[in-house]
Amino acid sequence: MLKFPEFALTCGLALLIAAPVEAAGDPEKGAVVFKKCAACHQVGDGAKNRIGPHLNELIGRTAGGLDGFKYSKAMQDAGAGGMVWDTETLDAYLESPRTAVKGTRMAFPGLKDADDRADAIAYLAEYSKQASAPAETKTAAAPAESPAPSTTVETAPGTAANQPIPTHGVLHLGRMATPDEVAAWDIDVRPDGVGLPAGKGTVSQGEVLFTERCASCHGDFGEGAGRWPVLAGGRDTLKNDRPEKTIGSYWPYLSTVYDYVRRAMPYGDARSLNDNEVYAITAYMLYLNDVVTDEAFELSRANFSDVRLPNEANFTDDTRKQEAHYAVPAEPCMRDCKADVTITSRARVLNVTPDGGNDDAATKVD
Ligand code: HEC
Ligand code: HEC
Repeated sequence: MLKFPEFALTCGLALLIAAPVEAAGDPEKGAVVFKKCAACHQVGDGAKNRIGPHLNELIGRTAGGLDGFKYSKAMQDAGAGGMVWDTETLDAYLESPRTAVKGTRMAFPGLKDADDRADAIAYLAEYSKQASAPAETKTAAAPAESPAPSTTVETAPGTAANQPIPTHGVLHLGRMATPDEVAAWDIDVRPDGVGLPAGKGTVSQGEVLFTERCASCHGDFGEGAGRWPVLAGGRDTLKNDRPEKTIGSYWPYLSTVYDYVRRAMPYGDARSLNDNEVYAITAYMLYLNDVVTDEAFELSRANFSDVRLPNEANFTDDTRKQEAHYAVPAEPCMRDCKADVTITSRARVLNVTPDGGNDDAATKVD
């Protein structure tokens, strides 16, 4: 139990801070609103920092003021500038986090409804009353003695059942991706052209871009500078001991070229090309591989699927399931499957592992 002077202090502070809040919002409705926050924030007994900081003892806390949570620079600066969480600052932050604290890491669009905000703040204020209890004597904190017994007892933190949990998905983890986030990820292009963005670009435009953005690694003509990948040539080498697999000699579909470049190139500066530029560069790579011969050729979404790469026909559907020996499922061998193991060659000897030019060391292994 609390000693009397501490109890008096508890009540006094709690009333002082929380009274105006309670007048405005309904903590029970706030508990429902808080479900939107619970994907990232915990509040109540044993609340921990998750994606966002725990929200116990929030009212009166300096913005960005919890030890042990890594805040954005913006939130730290707001706190250093004197921002303290109270009804007013919370209302502004919850309405539009990024307006109130420009650069905050809280990925939450905001609560547009003023009542929702007031309710959420009233709910959080319930867990802030305990903030005025002596922090060191956590176990002694008796919720029943706080000023609003009826509601406080019901919502008293302490059991997991009181904690709002996310309700989506199977495991109730994380949060739903926003439509914008999904759209930003959903950029794949299919061989039949589905997924291609609008746009166009010519071979000559692509040549300029390729020289600027790609040639330092892939060579002016896609021949590959140093040991960077070769992008052109290599036709009719696929049956050689060391086939040269390039877009022209090996790749089955042009959509892969577009998708790959748009997604991953230039190496180290991915996603820096706009859609027209990727069309132009793709057209130039067709030119480098003799698939088109006219420098004025313009590649666009409209004619994209008409272009065929030379090796397409050599890719066939996987029909192994129809083969006889797959029809009878065999028990896979999991241990001691081969009585006698002899090493017949080494990767270094086969020359697939760079050895720094020290051939002696490589051949001595056997
Ligand atoms: C997607 C995760 C996410 C959601 C949802 C979310 N927050 Fe946050 N919140 C954060 C992160 C991350 C921070 C830290 C922000 C920073 O450092 O800039 C934060 C910071 C805060 C702070 C500042 C705390 C402090 O210690 O300074 C408050 C208050 C807050 N959130 C309240 C809420 C409320 C109330 C809701 C629901 C209406 C909510 N948040 C929804 C992630 C979230
Ligand atoms: C800094 C060097 C560098 C630059 C610049 C660069 N690339 Fe690449 N590129 C690479 C590397 C490294 C790989 C292999 C990446 C891997 O296998 O994960 C690669 C792979 C590729 C491939 C796939 C090759 C294959 O056969 O697998 C294509 C196509 C490609 N780059 C196109 C481009 C285009 C187009 C540009 C210019 C917009 C560009 N690259 C700029 C380094 C670079």
